[in-house]
Amino acid sequence: MAEAKKRLFTGIQSSGTLHIGNYFGALRPFLDTYQDYESFLMIADYHALTSLKNPGELRKNIFDVVRDYLAVGVDPNKAVIFQQSRVCEHTELAWILDCLVPVAMLELGHAYKDKVAKGLEANAGLLTYPVLMAADIILYDTDIVPVGQDQKQHIEYAREAAKKFNLAYGKTFKEPQEKIQTGVAVVPGTDGKKMSKSYGNTIPLFGSKDEITKAVMSIVTDSGPQTEVENLRETGIQSGNFLQPLNLGRIHTLLKSKEELFDLYANNQNNYKAIKEALIEDLEAFIAPMRAKRESITDEEVRRVIEEGSAKAKAIASAKMAEVRQKVGVSL
Ligand code: TYM
Repeated sequence: MAEAKKRLFTGIQSSGTLHIGNYFGALRPFLDTYQDYESFLMIADYHALTSLKNPGELRKNIFDVVRDYLAVGVDPNKAVIFQQSRVCEHTELAWILDCLVPVAMLELGHAYKDKVAKGLEANAGLLTYPVLMAADIILYDTDIVPVGQDQKQHIEYAREAAKKFNLAYGKTFKEPQEKIQTGVAVVPGTDGKKMSKSYGNTIPLFGSKDEITKAVMSIVTDSGPQTEVENLRETGIQSGNFLQPLNLGRIHTLLKSKEELFDLYANNQNNYKAIKEALIEDLEAFIAPMRAKRESITDEEVRRVIEEGSAKAKAIASAKMAEVRQKVGVSL
């Protein structure tokens, strides 16, 4: 008999427009492997509620994220695309895990500490965010979670939550593993910090050429072109030892190899403008086909994908929760 496929699970918050950091950190690794697994791709709309309080915007973002998933090439017949809030077992399991996970562990969460440091309201949802994320993942007996580096700690917490449940109630959940793409773990934004919606330093994944141009022209290049090219040289054109070149080059090497880029950087050492113009063209060549595909996807298609995917996810999640309710002692 054929061995059952392992499970792969990832998700993106519906909190705003996707950027190339989301693509190269999470979607690209998903696309590269999802057909080898039984795969789940979630729209984390309840996670978005921790920061977004505008119902119209949230509703639009949910549609947009699904449209984005389809536009980058995810086949809804080969992955379960679903909306978190439609599968109420996620919040139900999160509560049970809340009763096992220490507050002190959550207070040490990097994402929580960062957001609070930035002045975001420290609501309880923000603190327990990783517990809901743990529930998302372990509910499906997930083996592997493709994410960017910023989510690594959250996957550790998911393992911790699974362990605590298994210890208290007997083996029930698998301990998932993160999969972080080497060389892409953190995509830098236009200011050199991590690309993030909340830092306002993004290159939008489906941006118009004007938006791409504006974003690229604002990339900070204080390292000097000399340093950029030295970096490309030093980081292994000859040796094959791939370290990260600086800001502009770090973004550029997501699209082209260092070998392909070397002459451009070497010949334009005092000319950022030429390098930026080349980056705009390379981004446009990469984004334009996805943008066109995205425009052809109708609301009806999106709605159908969400409904079908969420029904499939619900069937799996509700079977698992029946077992969980039995184990914790609330099923009579
Ligand atoms: P979110 O919506 O912040 O980001 C979605 C994915 O994009 C990756 N990412 C990046 N990767 C590299 N460089 C960057 N600059 C960059 N910015 C974002 C993130 O690492 C992530 O993989 N908590 C999750 C959503 C979530 C989830 C889940 C993910 C909820 N439940 C279960 C996986 C499994 C989040 O906020 O991602």
